This record gives sequence, C-alpha cells and structure tokens, in this order.
Amino acid sequence: MRFLVTAGPTREPIDPVRYLSNRSSGKMGYAIADAAIEAGHNVVLISGPANVEPPRSAELVSVSTSDEMFDAVHERARDCDVLVMCAAVADYKPKQFSKNKIKKHAANLSLELVPTRDILASLSKEDRHYIVVGFAAETENVEANAQKKLQEKNCDIVVANDVSRADSGMESDENEVTILFRNGEIKKNSRAPKKIVARELIKIFANVYEKRLTKKIV
Ligand code: C5P
Repeated sequence: MRFLVTAGPTREPIDPVRYLSNRSSGKMGYAIADAAIEAGHNVVLISGPANVEPPRSAELVSVSTSDEMFDAVHERARDCDVLVMCAAVADYKPKQFSKNKIKKHAANLSLELVPTRDILASLSKEDRHYIVVGFAAETENVEANAQKKLQEKNCDIVVANDVSRADSGMESDENEVTILFRNGEIKKNSRAPKKIVARELIKIFANVYEKRLTKKIV
C-alpha cells in the first residue's frame, strides 16, 4: 500500500527572521511513517520543520509553510492509497510578509492574521480513490469536536487526542487516541508510546483501505 503522511508544524513567516508556528514535534507523524515502513508499505513523508530522524526508506519531502504543504499534498495525493494528515498545519498566517525585519518600537504592535487554506477540506471527496485520515488535537470536548471535523473535512477516519494533558499528545513521547470512523464506530486506545500507537493505527488504516477495495465500506 502507498502511504502519504504529513507531519510536524508549519511556519508562517512574519519577516525574514520571525514566524508563527506551534508546538508540534513531528513525533507522531514520523512514528506513523516508521510503522508503515515496518509493515512493508511504501511511504512518502511530507514534513514541516522537525527534529526527528526520518525513516531511511521513506521519501522525504521537506516543506516549511502551510502553502508549501498544500501544494506538496495536492501533487502527491493522487498517487497514494492512504493519506494521513498528521501535520499541525497553522490555522492562521500573517496577512502581510514584511521584506525587512520589523523594527522594535515602544508602542504595541498588531499583526493582522488571515486563515490558511485547509488542506484536508480542499481534497475533493467525489473522485478520490484513497482514504483520508485527519487528526484532531483538542483541549476540550474531544469526541464531539473530532466528530464534527470528520464530517466537515470529509475524512474517512479521524484520530483525536487531548492535548491539554502534559503526558499525552504534542511534544510528548506517548499518546492516548480515540479513533472515529465514518460509520459512527469509535475506538479508544489506552495511553502508550507513540511507536506502539502508530503500529496499531497503521493496521486500522490498512484494514479500512482493504474493506474499501472490496466495497465493504466503513
Ligand atoms: O481544524 P484543525 O486544524 O483542528 O484540524 C486538524 C486536521 O486538519 C489535521 O489533520 C490537519 O493536518 C488538518 N489541517 C489541514 N489544513 C489546515 C489546518 C489543518 O489540512 N490549514
């Protein structure tokens, strides 16, 4: 099976030396890429800036901004069977990029932000042959928010986690996820190292893809 995995944060430039980003370490996406390779799949990893060793046999596509990630996903999605959107794409970017470094003044400074393009939501549902997995990092009402995301962003699966906990989710080596499927099924995984969680997720994704192929749609 051909996996296309996105991982890490994106950086939205403010001026030549500053950017907006988030705390995503890339660990979960890289663990998913590792686990897919381990299971014998072909992997393309589209990654924002992350300090994690990429799996040797994955094809690595390095990007920085949400726009670069948007283009990289659109270029490669048609050649995959399973798209896993694990990246923490910035939701906003500065409206304007200042070519020169913004000078410090005594007064307050306001930055106008505009929404970035939503990569997941931009993938048309009609003509796609691949399954789409979204991630939902929530700090409250995890299941309800993830369910909404599954519908609104046309995902086949959403993997949700509570990032308000210090021992799970962003930057941590462990994760506790809830997996939501299109047919309303929900599966909870207990807290485990991201590598173990990733192995379990790869089995689930491959299973849904196979069922889709044989038209036992989930
Ligand atoms: O809406 P939210 O950012 O919480 O949704 C998270 C999911 O949407 C993740 O799978 C993330 O990769 C994806 N996303 C995206 N494009 C954006 C923002 C998020 O594809 N601009």
